[in-house]
Amino acid sequence: MEDYEPAEGEASRIGLTLETYILEGMLGRREARGYFTSLLNQIALAAKMVTSRVRRAGLVNVLGTTGDTNATGDTVQKLDQEANETLLRVLGRRNHCAAAASEEEEDIRILSTADTANYLVVFDPLDGSSNIDVNISIGTIFGVYRKEHDGPATKADFLKPGRELQAAGYIIYGSSTQFVITTGGAVHGFTYDPSVGEFLLSHENIRVPDHHPTYSINEGNAGRWTDGVKHWNDWVKGEDNAEKRPYSLRYVGTLVADAHRTLLRGGIFAYPGDTKSPEGKLRLLYEANPIAFIFEAAGGVATTGEERILDIEPTELHQRVPLILGSTRNVDEFLSFGKK
Ligand code: AHG
Ligand code: MN
Ligand code: MN
Repeated sequence: MEDYEPAEGEASRIGLTLETYILEGMLGRREARGYFTSLLNQIALAAKMVTSRVRRAGLVNVLGTTGDTNATGDTVQKLDQEANETLLRVLGRRNHCAAAASEEEEDIRILSTADTANYLVVFDPLDGSSNIDVNISIGTIFGVYRKEHDGPATKADFLKPGRELQAAGYIIYGSSTQFVITTGGAVHGFTYDPSVGEFLLSHENIRVPDHHPTYSINEGNAGRWTDGVKHWNDWVKGEDNAEKRPYSLRYVGTLVADAHRTLLRGGIFAYPGDTKSPEGKLRLLYEANPIAFIFEAAGGVATTGEERILDIEPTELHQRVPLILGSTRNVDEFLSFGKK
């Protein structure tokens, strides 16, 4: 799937709207004029609706918890639920999305049985929920699959490896709201301009640097790591001027924020398995896979420490997976310490 190449001397496309990019096939899907385009624009609309609530979270009644717990045992924040309902409602409106699998839904949600409903969407409606009430960056993560058969979608349709994604992206509600997306070719970033109500191209063809002296891991889990992770962790903190060690530690606790920084600047993010949670904490379908798809499209890597994230054959909607991602040379350093 070749990506759009600007014609000789064509002016830069910085400032183009996301909608133009999608409509004009610049995401490398010239054949997708209709349903796929509409679906991505629906996701962009949902992102605008969520960002308007996030930006006023302290003023409108969306802080705090609902008192419930979700399918993976997390306490549900009000904004988790509101973002979830916004995405389900918007995706259900145009009959292009057959079904959705959400972190906040125990089972899949059938959204349309129309013949035009050719796509499936996985999403984490609000990533980094523990950071909502303290005004630290949060995000939304999504992935789009094609439904490969006629008739209603089933749970089995969602249990496919991440390498079959048709599109993946995230929205980060940070110092600005940015929408990062790829259809497998280039990765592009769009910044929301509230004065015009559009996502405008700001980061064209993002590439992950092959190394950066930054690492991102929750050091609070150090006592539970395997010996290999412990040895790597000691090594990144060792003194070696030539290798720019000790590396800097950056950890936000929102996957989208830690991943976005790593995507743009390079380095490594790790949420490995440990003695308490052998499969780690992050969910495969709507956290690890979409982020892994983006990193690979941008020249980075994403692994469990044993295998490529995008090759995992899922067995459950909410299964967890160890996630190590980032610059190729940083991840190689991590893997060189092995499981020993
Ligand atoms: P979510 O809010 O969707 O449940 O995701 C939270 C995840 C992820 O965003 C982040 O990387 C991780 O939780 C942080 O976990 P720790 O607080 O255990 O470090
Ligand atoms: Mn999450
Ligand atoms: Mn979430």
